[in-house]
Amino acid sequence: MQVLDKEALVEEPGKNGKKFFLETYGCQMNFSDSEIVASILKKEGYDITPEASEADVILMNTCAIRDNVEQRTRQRLTEFRAFKKDNPSLVIGVLGCMAERLKTKLLEEEDLVDIVVGPDAYRSIPDLIEEVEGGQKAINVLLSREETYADINPVRLSENGVSAFISITRGCDNMCTFCVVPFTRGRERSRDPHTIVKEAQGLFDIGYREVTLLGQNVDSYLWYGGGLKKDFDKAADDQKSSAVSFAKLLELVAKVSPLLRVRFSTSNPQDMTDEVLHTMAKYENICRYVHLPMQSGSTRVLKQMNRGYNREKYLERIKAIRTIIPGCGVSTDIISGFCTETEEEHKETLSLMDEVAFDYAYMFKYSERPGTLAAKKYPDDVPEDIKSRRLQEIVDLHRKHAGESNQRDVGQTYEVLVEGFSKKSTEFLFGRSSYNKSIVFPREHYKPGDYVNVKVHSCTSGTLLGQIVK
Ligand code: 5AD
Ligand code: SF4
Repeated sequence: MQVLDKEALVEEPGKNGKKFFLETYGCQMNFSDSEIVASILKKEGYDITPEASEADVILMNTCAIRDNVEQRTRQRLTEFRAFKKDNPSLVIGVLGCMAERLKTKLLEEEDLVDIVVGPDAYRSIPDLIEEVEGGQKAINVLLSREETYADINPVRLSENGVSAFISITRGCDNMCTFCVVPFTRGRERSRDPHTIVKEAQGLFDIGYREVTLLGQNVDSYLWYGGGLKKDFDKAADDQKSSAVSFAKLLELVAKVSPLLRVRFSTSNPQDMTDEVLHTMAKYENICRYVHLPMQSGSTRVLKQMNRGYNREKYLERIKAIRTIIPGCGVSTDIISGFCTETEEEHKETLSLMDEVAFDYAYMFKYSERPGTLAAKKYPDDVPEDIKSRRLQEIVDLHRKHAGESNQRDVGQTYEVLVEGFSKKSTEFLFGRSSYNKSIVFPREHYKPGDYVNVKVHSCTSGTLLGQIVK
């Protein structure tokens, strides 16, 4: 059995005496990638530091999904200028999707930046740092058809010691017209299931009680001994017959232990199968929660987004979720003001929200990303103030639905996995139900990693409040 990287867990001083500071933006996948980066640097003898001012190397793992996310990163970069003044040998690196999107342009535009590294090139970071120490700027933005970092034991950077992320696929082949990810993360590839199960088992053995399997589109996970999904047809017969689908992978991870909760993200309406839903229903430790981005309620807009489903198909998937897993929590992503969206079409988004009543939603204004299909083909013609007003209507409606969803939980009892102290008081703990709702309750003698039954007695807009029942 594989045990997680012991070196990484034991706090020994790094062999080369240098310290790195690592800051992460964007999605869970990026946070998971940062754990891989930390592992690569630790192996080379670097120590991690929580203080940017103490670091020999500052790394920012960036996101490119919307313009405002990139602007925030550039703003943050300027804050490091003072450190570089004090310590001219300080190395500053930009990693991740913004690095991949801008490539050498980033070196030209931001004089502070020494290193630019794309999501498939993290193994080269130590060499790139050396190049910079030799007096040059360094860049590696090569995308790979094979890299999954499957052999790397991530250094766990999240603090609770209870829940962890495990990447199962990299890249994305969906080609939604608004999205930069296929360009920044490359072709979709799946990771060897044995390494995934081993990682889950290793985490369980050291006390973790929840893993979230991550991919841009988890439903398209497919392992047949390596290779891209699009080449599956060309695989040998024995490879095909022993292929592992996402439903199968979910089952393998769920079997690690009934005490290990399994979550996953993100599902896609056009790919989510009933087989996955039946696997969820079969294993109680697979959490009753699906994140299913809808993006828009208008079939015409969905077509223009190249989403691969229409309004009816989306509703049909929601119905399947609720039939096969009654009470399942559902969350979504919504974009307001996509190119050419009319008022009528925006209203269709609101009406689809009304039909589903999401428990949670991530809501965004459309942000044109250079190089995407939408940027090339469609005018970004919904004025900013209209995008904002539509977004506000979406947010307000969602608040109403989320509030009603929380109200329905009052009086119910849920099994909660304790994750830590509540933000407000160490006399209270918080954890989540299988349905992914946060619940706060008096501590008694419980600790992170314990399972407790909590009866909900009231709620705020975002949190349930309860009491342990025995
Ligand atoms: N503008 C606004 N939102 C976007 N998303 C992705 N690309 C864009 C964009 N160009 C949103 C989608 C996606 C989530 C991760 O981010 O809703 O599901
Ligand atoms: Fe994650 Fe997408 Fe942002 Fe890249 S661009 S960090 S994949 S959200």
